[in-house]
Amino acid sequence: MKKSIRDFHLAHKKVIIRSDLNVPLQNGKIVDDTRIKKSVETIQYAINQQAKVIVLSHLGRIKEEADKKKNDLKPVAKRLSELLEKKVIFIPFTRGKEVEQAIANLKEGQVLLLQNTRFEDLDGKKESQCDMELAKYWASLGDIFINDAFGTLHRKHASNVGIASYLPSGIGFLVEKEITALDTVKKPKRPFVIVLGGGKVHDKIPLIKNLLPKCDQLLIGGGMAFTFLQAEGYEVGNSLVDVDSLSFCQEIVKKYAAKIILPIDIHCNTAMEDQPGKMKDINELEFNDIGLDIGQKTIQLFKKYLTSAKMVVWNGPLGVYELSNYAKGTEEILKYLAEKQIKTIVAGGDIVAVATNLHIEDQLYHVSTGGGATLKYLEGTSMPGLEKIEEE
Ligand code: 3PG
Repeated sequence: MKKSIRDFHLAHKKVIIRSDLNVPLQNGKIVDDTRIKKSVETIQYAINQQAKVIVLSHLGRIKEEADKKKNDLKPVAKRLSELLEKKVIFIPFTRGKEVEQAIANLKEGQVLLLQNTRFEDLDGKKESQCDMELAKYWASLGDIFINDAFGTLHRKHASNVGIASYLPSGIGFLVEKEITALDTVKKPKRPFVIVLGGGKVHDKIPLIKNLLPKCDQLLIGGGMAFTFLQAEGYEVGNSLVDVDSLSFCQEIVKKYAAKIILPIDIHCNTAMEDQPGKMKDINELEFNDIGLDIGQKTIQLFKKYLTSAKMVVWNGPLGVYELSNYAKGTEEILKYLAEKQIKTIVAGGDIVAVATNLHIEDQLYHVSTGGGATLKYLEGTSMPGLEKIEEE
C-alpha cells in the first residue's frame, strides 16, 4: 500500500499537492469542472490540517508560445476558489522570485496555485520529460509531496514523478479512490462484462488482451465494432474500419468466440449527419452505408448480458453520441445500468460526458477522472506516477 495523505503530519508544513486540473476550456471558460470538484477533498483536508498548501497542475499541451494563452490556469484558480469557498492565491509563474516570495508569505490554511506546469515545456520539454533539475527546484518549495493527479499517473513528469523523488510523498484521496475502485476489476465478481466502444481498435488492444481472459462477456459497439464485423466477413459499407487491426480482430474473435458479442443490427445513414437513418440487420449493410449507432435488437441483446452482471467496465460510446439521432444506444444502455444498479465503472472522456449529461454519475459505482491513465491502469501497466510514492 502506498502512503496516503493521512499518514503525514501536515500542520505548519508546506505541502505540495499535484492535482490533475486539466479540464476542457473554451474561450477561457471551463466546460466541465468535474476534475476540479474531485480534487477539492484532498486540498480541503490539507487546509483543515493547517498546512500551507501549494497546488500544481498541468493544463493542455504546450508546444509553442501561442499555446500559453489558452492554457492559462487562472480560470481554474477562480473555480477552485469558488469550490473551496476560500481565496486561492494564483501565481502566474512556475518558478522565480514571485513564486518563492509568495510561498514564503503563505500562512497555515492558505492555498496557492502555480501557473500551468507545462509552461516549462517550452524550455526543452522540462515538465513532460521529467527534468530532474526542475523537479528538484519544485521540491525545494515544499516539505511534503502528495500526488492526487490520478489522470496524470501514466505520465512521467517533473511535477509528479520528479518531485516525489526528492520529498516524503504520499497519495491523495482521489488517487486512493480511483485505485480502490479500479482494483476491484483485478478480482471481479462474476458475471463480469466489459463494454467497449469508440473509434480505434488499436488503442484498446492492450486493454482487450488484459481483460478478455478475465471477463465473461465483451460487448463491442461504436466505430470499433465495424473492424470486428469486417474481420468476420460482413459488408460494413463506409463505416469506420481500423484496417491495421483487422488481423488482431480475426485472431481474438477466433480465440474468444463465446465471449465477444458484436452488434446484430445497426442504425445507419449514408452521410454523417444528424438525421434519422435506417435500422438494418448486420447482414443488410450496403456499400454506401455508414454505421452510426447500434440498433434496437443489439440494445436488447446487450441488456440480456448486462442484466445479471455483477461488475461492468465501460469505455467508449456505442455510437456517434454527439449526433442526437445516434446517441440512443449509448444512453439507453447507460441508463439501464444505472436504473438496475449494476456495479459499473465508466472510464474515458466520452462515456463520462454522457453519464454527466444524463445526471446519473451518482448511480454508477465509479466514474473515473482518468482518460489514458484509467485505460493504462486497467491494462495492468505500471504507473510511473505511483512508482516513487513511498510505501506505508
Ligand atoms: C488527461 O487528460 O488524460 C491527463 O490530464 C493527461 O493529459 P495529457 O494526455 O495531455 O498528458
